[in-house]
Amino acid sequence: MHSRPAQPAVESYLKINFKVIVHSSYKTEDYYWGVEPNAACFQVLQFMPPVRRLKLLDLGCGEGKDAVFFARNGYEVTALDVSDAGLRKTQQLADKAGVQIHIVKADILDYRLDTYYDVVFSSGVLHYIKPEHRSDIFDNYKRFTRPNGIHVLNVFVDKPFIAPPPEKEPYAFPWHSGELLTHYRDWRIQDSAEIIFDCCSSGIPHRHAMTTLVAQKVSPSSLAAAADSLQK
Ligand SMILES: C[S@@+](CC[C@H](N)C(=O)[O-])C[C@H]1O[C@@H](n2cnc3c(N)ncnc32)[C@H](O)[C@@H]1O
Repeated sequence: MHSRPAQPAVESYLKINFKVIVHSSYKTEDYYWGVEPNAACFQVLQFMPPVRRLKLLDLGCGEGKDAVFFARNGYEVTALDVSDAGLRKTQQLADKAGVQIHIVKADILDYRLDTYYDVVFSSGVLHYIKPEHRSDIFDNYKRFTRPNGIHVLNVFVDKPFIAPPPEKEPYAFPWHSGELLTHYRDWRIQDSAEIIFDCCSSGIPHRHAMTTLVAQKVSPSSLAAAADSLQK
């Protein structure tokens, strides 16, 4: 696994927009995103329970609530984020829970995997990848997923009937409806939904739309067999 320091563009972005709110909040004692795991974490337990030592990567771990949940449940966790303050709090949360987490400071825009994972997890982060870079980045995530491994992801999607969020995010690129699935044509879709939910992350009530996905890397022959059985 390799990483380079955050690009200047990302650093200035962190200084000028919504993430200022987030990142300065990361510097307080409180956990901006709370310490309870995201609902999607339970899908990891459901679809890939830790019956053996499984390697899990949390992309954009924030302050570590999900990464720590996974470590407490027996996964071997790598937690990655671009924010020093977020990673510091991730470490603190892990220490408090008495679990070990491998912490990586990296920018997902130029970070590429070169070791294999059983689970790639990411919540509320992948809209920072520009559309033109998504294929390259997702090909890398898929390639470095072990056979039968899973991706449990969610992405913000654009909806004409939902107003843009109050925080201005010049480096955020909401996905199109259905777009995430196009990266997983050759994987088994175990679960996917489009959800709309209320949010008050900046103190101003607003709504988001999100695609959620659980996809599993299966061999081409088992996919073909599954397709065959559907036709019979
Ligand atoms: C909405 S928060 C979600 C945090 C966490 N996944 C959670 O659900 O609690 C988005 C996170 O993405 C991180 N982030 C934003 N751009 C990033 C980038 N280019 N590379 C790595 N992390 C990034 C931010 O630092 C922040 O912690």
